[in-house]
Amino acid sequence: MSEDPWPPRALDDRALDGRAPHDPHDPEAPQARKVPELDAPPTSAPGGVTLIIPTFNEADNVGELLRRLTASLPADPPCEVLFVDDSTDDTPTVIEKAAADCPFPVAVLHRERAVGGLGGAVVEGITRADSDWIVVMDADLQHPPHLVPELVGEGTRTGADLVVASRYLPGGSRAGLAGGYRVAVSRAATWLTKGLFPRALRGISDPMSGFFAMRRGAVTAEALRPLGYKILLELAVRCRPKRIAEVPFVFQDRHAGASKSTPREGLRFLTHLAALRTATPLARMIGFGLIGLTGFVPNLAALWLLTHAGVQYLAAEVLANQAGVLWNFLLIETLLFRDRRRHRHWADRLGRFALLANADLLLRIPLIALFVGRLGMDVLPATALALVTTFVLRFVATEALVYLPRGPRAATTPRS
Ligand code: GDD
Ligand code: MN
Repeated sequence: MSEDPWPPRALDDRALDGRAPHDPHDPEAPQARKVPELDAPPTSAPGGVTLIIPTFNEADNVGELLRRLTASLPADPPCEVLFVDDSTDDTPTVIEKAAADCPFPVAVLHRERAVGGLGGAVVEGITRADSDWIVVMDADLQHPPHLVPELVGEGTRTGADLVVASRYLPGGSRAGLAGGYRVAVSRAATWLTKGLFPRALRGISDPMSGFFAMRRGAVTAEALRPLGYKILLELAVRCRPKRIAEVPFVFQDRHAGASKSTPREGLRFLTHLAALRTATPLARMIGFGLIGLTGFVPNLAALWLLTHAGVQYLAAEVLANQAGVLWNFLLIETLLFRDRRRHRHWADRLGRFALLANADLLLRIPLIALFVGRLGMDVLPATALALVTTFVLRFVATEALVYLPRGPRAATTPRS
């Protein structure tokens, strides 16, 4: 099935099959199956609200959730509920039964493959919603249903594009976050994220929140490449909503069942942060340079090992350089170009990457000779200039020759 057994794929989704994390316009993307009985027409009335609720094995929660939503949602603005479900249990059937008692339309989109995880499910829901407002909330009642009208009301009142339910405002709290460890992790993740995206997250005290309302018109679904849990972060950074408001909320205890969050989800979050932070060419080039610097460590370690094993030092230099190249390749694949890997087979990418990295060394010497001999530069500035020149050349060449689509034909037949 897969042509790409390369290790970074372990960070991918359960069923990514080597594709980009999410592409709603990919004709080969897994087709979601709608539960026919629940197939509801989208709400397009002015001020209408689509509640998008991702579910993964929440059979013991969805009945109570729909009951509480029934008690909380007003008739006006009109609301509809769209579950985007990746369950392996009978959650869709339970929803179907409970929906019969609901005064608002309820639909379930069951996905055979959990592409993009929680975030992918939400984007899948967004592409199907054409109400004025989208509200995203969890199915386990940690997000109080009675706040849904307040979130939309706050947006309408203030003209905001995004209204975030925040645990960090006066009146809000993290009561339901199980244990000191999770509180610490959540706080560290919040600081890190706000530090990395000070502008995009200005006005958002709780970028880790999974409970928010957003105007449909402020979302560009095509721009979204979610990866795991942090869909609000994805929306705030890639769609840059102009006006942002917040409403305090108390994060409740889970109603039933256990959190689906795993340590792997933490790794995915870091990958997601890196992908978001390196979305512009300049940021990517800086990332490329920083990764290149870290490559000195395996390079020197390999050099030490090889020379101690008795390998002649020049041969050892050449071999050790390959350790650095491999290290850089792995990091660049995972952190910088993870959604551009599909245009070429991994062996092809590695071969090209290694070729460029070694060509960089070969090019540096004649360049230094040129700078010194022809331009009369001193050796040190000439070396520095040659380093910078070959670095920029290598970055541009890597992007163009390793990670860009090959042409129209290749772009329509993505490989891993
Ligand atoms: N469709 C789908 N696919 N839904 C999923 C998946 C998935 O792969 N994984 C989780 N979900 C659903 C769950 O069924 C639940 O409705 C919601 O997403 C949140 O999952 P939980 O497992 O309850 O997450 P949590 O309580 O650990 O995390 C929550 O709190 C965080 C803040 O601390 C979520 O709201 C996060 O978004 C939020 O960042
Ligand atoms: Mn939860």
